[in-house]
Amino acid sequence: MTQDEAKRLVAKRAVEFVEDGMAVGLGTGSTSRMFIEELGAKVKASGIKIRCVASSDASKALGESLGLEVVSLAELPELDVYIDGADEVARDADGSLALIKGGGGALLREKIVASSAKKFIVVVDSSKVVAKLGKFPLPIEVIKMALPLVEGKLTELGLNPKQRKAKDGSVYLTDENNYILDCSVGVIENPEETAAEVRGIVGVVEHGLFLGMAAMALVAGDDGVTEMQG
Ligand code: 5RP
Repeated sequence: MTQDEAKRLVAKRAVEFVEDGMAVGLGTGSTSRMFIEELGAKVKASGIKIRCVASSDASKALGESLGLEVVSLAELPELDVYIDGADEVARDADGSLALIKGGGGALLREKIVASSAKKFIVVVDSSKVVAKLGKFPLPIEVIKMALPLVEGKLTELGLNPKQRKAKDGSVYLTDENNYILDCSVGVIENPEETAAEVRGIVGVVEHGLFLGMAAMALVAGDDGVTEMQG
């Protein structure tokens, strides 16, 4: 099975968790894109009524193009379910799910939407499941003015920050108009400790460690979709 086939498979499974009347959070990235497509198809075919909040401008535009009602979090502050991808999924020492997110640059809004949902379901292909987080660079969203300060502090912590560039070589900006520093951290032995260190730096808006937030991960591989409970 190719990675794209696995993403499609898990996206199809994830729509089974959406029922009539629900408030649904839409994630960001290629797996979420497939989920939004499948959700749009389900709503069209079944006529169920749902309302959505998106974690990025791109997901909002996609959802609306497929006929989904996408409103602001202010209009719909409590979500029944949030479905989103991840860059890495591991089990934390206490058995909960620990994620790195933000490869698509939407970590701040993603964490806000995830925090507003009763249930956060992660959708990944099996290549994303790791024993320990850290091979994927940890994204950190930074206020523009604070960039040199934050870069220096992260370097002191040995986290090897590198400013993200867009595909055309320009400086990458998030939907909230902030910068991203991608940190080549190496194996993260204690994600809570790393999260606290990063959070303590003035000018950091958010980091891509999502610890104990996901209720479940749906993981697609050659054997189909398996569930990792959080
Ligand atoms: C975006 C994210 C994505 O969920 C993450 O990067 C996974 O993306 P993909 O489904 O394309 O592999 O966190 O900020």
